[in-house]
Amino acid sequence: MSAPTQSGKKSTREAREATARRLLRSSLEHSYEPNLEIDWEAPLVDGAYGMPAHRVSLYGTELWDTLTEEQKVTLSIHEVCSVARVGLWFEIILMQMLLRYSYDRDPRSQHIQYALTEIADECRHSIMFAKMTERYGVPDYEPTWMTQQLGRLCKTVVSGPAMFAGTLVAEEITDQLQREGMRDETVQPLTRMVSKIHVTEEARHVRYAREELARLVPKANRLQRAVGRWLTAVMAHRIATNLIHPDVYRSVGLDPKQARAVARANPHHRDSLRWTARKLVPFLREQGMIGGPSEVLWRRAFLV
Ligand SMILES: [Fe+2]
Ligand SMILES: [Fe+2]
Repeated sequence: MSAPTQSGKKSTREAREATARRLLRSSLEHSYEPNLEIDWEAPLVDGAYGMPAHRVSLYGTELWDTLTEEQKVTLSIHEVCSVARVGLWFEIILMQMLLRYSYDRDPRSQHIQYALTEIADECRHSIMFAKMTERYGVPDYEPTWMTQQLGRLCKTVVSGPAMFAGTLVAEEITDQLQREGMRDETVQPLTRMVSKIHVTEEARHVRYAREELARLVPKANRLQRAVGRWLTAVMAHRIATNLIHPDVYRSVGLDPKQARAVARANPHHRDSLRWTARKLVPFLREQGMIGGPSEVLWRRAFLV
């Protein structure tokens, strides 16, 4: 790889600043304070789903058919909170990665001012997801112990292409689910409002991460790219396999281990997972962030 020329460096910097300027303007025009924007006291709608029924992990199985309508609704509410919990977990990782990223960079740049703005967005999102779970009266479906430890490591050390690629995994998977859920009239208004706020603000985060990743990849050497692919694959695998906490099945009297096995083998659920990654995977492939031996983790997570 030849060294970037002075004018090449300058145009990269200008492109980065132009994007950040646009994103900062959009943040001023379309940002939400969920504490005020959502009526947290509003009654829940009887019989409304937490997320679209066809995205529930057991949908399409014989086990699903044994559930009453009320149990299906209950499970969908527990599953949407479980997905939000993984989102919240990753948001806390991302806030720390963005803080480290901003630590020794020029705060006068629009690029860093946007990074700080994104941290503020994620902070409000995490509180919003927590409040939604509280409102639905659902337990805290935190990721597994091993996932928490890997997350601890990631938030402390990950930087460069893997930081932005991992961010895209978490953001684009939840974004797909929420874009669909916010338009579905069978879904609780609370989920739909939370989804709408998140989708609006995440569109900017996705733009920021995609553009930065595309700028960083050409500068990375072969070793850095290979390490980046592995780190991204590990994050993708952890995110996808923790989306549905096995304890959600207890809410409808099912054995967590057995029901999880049914869900993992459910072709409809596998298709849903691949569908959540339908925009993400081609982009990361194009950037060289999926491929080689680490792709096995993407396959095991049913994302490719
Ligand atoms: Fe978020
Ligand atoms: Fe985000």
